[in-house]
Amino acid sequence: MNATAGGYRIIENARLDARNSFGVAVRAPLLVEVTRSEALPELFHHAMPGDVRPLVLGGGSNILFARDPEGVVLALASGAIQPIGETDGATCVRADAGVVWHDFVLWTLGHGLSGLENLALIPGTVGAAPIQNIGAYGVEVRECVHAVEAFDRQAGIFVRLASEACAFAYRDSLFKREPDRFVVTAVEFRLPQRFTPRLQYAGLTEELASMGITDPPRASQVAEAVMRIRRRKLPDPAVLGNAGSFFKNPIVAETSAQALLAEHPDLPSYPSGDPATRKLSAAWLIDRCGWKGRREGDAGIAPTHALVLVNHGQASGAQLLDIARQVAADVHARFGIALQPEPRIVGARW
Ligand code: EPU
Repeated sequence: MNATAGGYRIIENARLDARNSFGVAVRAPLLVEVTRSEALPELFHHAMPGDVRPLVLGGGSNILFARDPEGVVLALASGAIQPIGETDGATCVRADAGVVWHDFVLWTLGHGLSGLENLALIPGTVGAAPIQNIGAYGVEVRECVHAVEAFDRQAGIFVRLASEACAFAYRDSLFKREPDRFVVTAVEFRLPQRFTPRLQYAGLTEELASMGITDPPRASQVAEAVMRIRRRKLPDPAVLGNAGSFFKNPIVAETSAQALLAEHPDLPSYPSGDPATRKLSAAWLIDRCGWKGRREGDAGIAPTHALVLVNHGQASGAQLLDIARQVAADVHARFGIALQPEPRIVGARW
């Protein structure tokens, strides 16, 4: 590999502990830190030819390393934010993949722009946000994504995919389905200049009221309420290693949902967007199986939220995965539902 070309830096035998929010102690034989995405064609065509398929790492907040990654790990460290124009009452802003997501949310609020306030404090980077279509408190990022810029490894060119071409779905996108094809380099957001609060998610209005806000809130106040709820419920990865929700809320046939709801009327369920299916609360199913707060060694389930797999210190990725599989097996045995993990698992199959 040619280490002299500009725009990237190579680190051999790199520790990834601080680059994955589970804090799992793994090492990459080669870590390539890309500071200018313009360097990607050169990197792929000349420096990493053939079938080298690097693992692209964002903030490492949605990944579980079951063992050391084998090949090259690529991290995008580009960090610019730039307004790029206005269209029908909205401002378009372009942010590089390497920008820290929460910093970007704060930047938009500081510039009088709204749309992302419900997504405050989600760990990770801007580049990772469209990959799993991050969502929280009734909003998904796809609603504000105007276009995604990426390097298409198959075609060897930079592409710009309009939102409709990204195949966004619940915690899913084209980029998640084809991880070896696209390297997201920047995201363009379309952010309304007029703020419309989105407060339908249970607890948000109550949180604002507890902050003494009863009038229509400002976007920054909604962000503050979201941050307060998140800090209370979700462990801080800097204190207790985790990747947010480890399991997706399962989407099941409406008939199966109704059968389960008849038996368990307190099981929270939500519309899935398709009348033939319904989304169920994975946290409730896991909680009912008695897993909340349980641990084996340093791997366990958070005491504050049943969806969150946690590393109490020195757990290996394999130990964390083992607990997650036990949780899923119990939920399947008791409720007949096959839970799917939300993060990407490296080095093992689910
Ligand atoms: N619940 C339990 N036990 C628990 C936690 C929750 O029974 O330990 C039940 C409660 O009835 C609660 C319901 O589950 O009302 C829903 O819980 P919560 O509001 O915390 O939301 P969630 O469905 O568990 C989803 C996202 C989160 C996001 C929150 C808020 C998924 C997989 N998770 O969690 O996203 O922050 O809604 O919008 O969709 C993430 O993706 O990493 C993430 C944290």
